[in-house]
Amino acid sequence: MDSLKIIGGKTLNGRIKISGAKNAALPLMACGLLINKGNLELSSMPNLADTKFMCILLESLGIKAKIINNIAHFSGNPSKHVAKYDIVRKMRASILVLGPLLTRVGIAKVSLPGGCSIGTRPVDLHIQALERMGATINLFNGYIEAKAPRNGLQGAEIKFPKISVGATENIIMAASLANGRTKIHNAAKEPEIIDLANCLNSMGAQISGAGTSEVIIKGVKCLNGCKHTVIPDRIEAGSFAIAGAITGGELELINCEPRHLLSLSEYLIKAGVNWKNTDKTITISSNGNLNPVSITTSEYPGFPTDLQAQFMTLMSIANGNSKIVETIFENRFMHVPELARMGANINLNGRTANISGVQSLNGARLMATDLRASISLIIAALRAEGESVVSRIYHLDRGYEKIEQKLINCGADIERIRE
Ligand code: EPZ
Repeated sequence: MDSLKIIGGKTLNGRIKISGAKNAALPLMACGLLINKGNLELSSMPNLADTKFMCILLESLGIKAKIINNIAHFSGNPSKHVAKYDIVRKMRASILVLGPLLTRVGIAKVSLPGGCSIGTRPVDLHIQALERMGATINLFNGYIEAKAPRNGLQGAEIKFPKISVGATENIIMAASLANGRTKIHNAAKEPEIIDLANCLNSMGAQISGAGTSEVIIKGVKCLNGCKHTVIPDRIEAGSFAIAGAITGGELELINCEPRHLLSLSEYLIKAGVNWKNTDKTITISSNGNLNPVSITTSEYPGFPTDLQAQFMTLMSIANGNSKIVETIFENRFMHVPELARMGANINLNGRTANISGVQSLNGARLMATDLRASISLIIAALRAEGESVVSRIYHLDRGYEKIEQKLINCGADIERIRE
């Protein structure tokens, strides 16, 4: 398992090109199962462990899937319908093949993804919504076994009791080829949902309202290939913006969508960071001296849970006390004990973290536990005095493309140790 060795205390100055969004790419790749004819081509595809796993999963279902130079190519029709445990357990987003398989071939057997370190990650909302569309679903031996009615899934009114990004995506894909009209109430509004709907509409779907809480999908007979560009990764961009803020210096992020980061920009400006943006770039400059700012995570367009750990690292060296409340996942403070080992002063009380800013952090040996916790430790190590070694960075490689190269190009002293 690889580690990253970081000598902290360097300011970051320079330019970073933001990659395509992991959380847009994964559902877009699942659309490869929906094609009737032609090929699906996705550019700005990030080369990540998760996108590689999704290719392996799609190939196991009979789709030709490959990524060459950040362009993904999908062709062929699904000839199998079982998403096996040994792939699904490595990547929870495999659940996103359930809706497409069910609507395209009428049958699907998908391993239950199980939990991960940030929470139990249930999929009950996906299952209940597909049952509303006429699917019969049994849970057996750790698998979801689903069958569509003989004449296919039926359009339905789907009222989600709570907002779910993945369940919204699964139903949008399932409804695209269902009979009749589906209306989703309380849909997730993330930019990745809009990107998915735009790609499906280019394939011939009829989707309206994506990005709002009411999405309407009129089922069509078939969907064809198209060329689509994956939107930039707002969480990668936000992570680097926070890295620039904590180390001081000036960072320019290019190929990004600042309008997807309005909440983060509001709080970074409150923290005393200089934030300038054009429609495709963000420039962050800071003297590393930060005001304490309290946040509560919430669904888009609120403060993203995927930037909570990174923002907590920033607040750990702010001049005063702040509070972070995590409302989306039940166990998303795994980074806290590791930050404490660097000298951070953070007290947890359920889903609330009370942070007292300290003068400085000290380098230490650290262990990554999940994707966003690992980047928060890298950000802390960039600021800390002395050397840090972050182990188990396979978590990081799931969601950040060429991370050390991007940081080295801006002056970071960081080296990957291959074990
Ligand atoms: C997506 O996960 C993202 N992953 C997550 O990013 C992100 O944190 C999350 O949305 C919230 O924004 C991808 O897009 C691949 P949810 P998802 O369904 O779809 C509960 C990262 O770091 N829930 O919106 O799994 C669930 O437990 C990852 O890139 C149910 O109760 O998230 C959670 O509390 C981490 N039943 C809340 O809803 C369900 O059937 C939101 O989950 C589904 C979800």
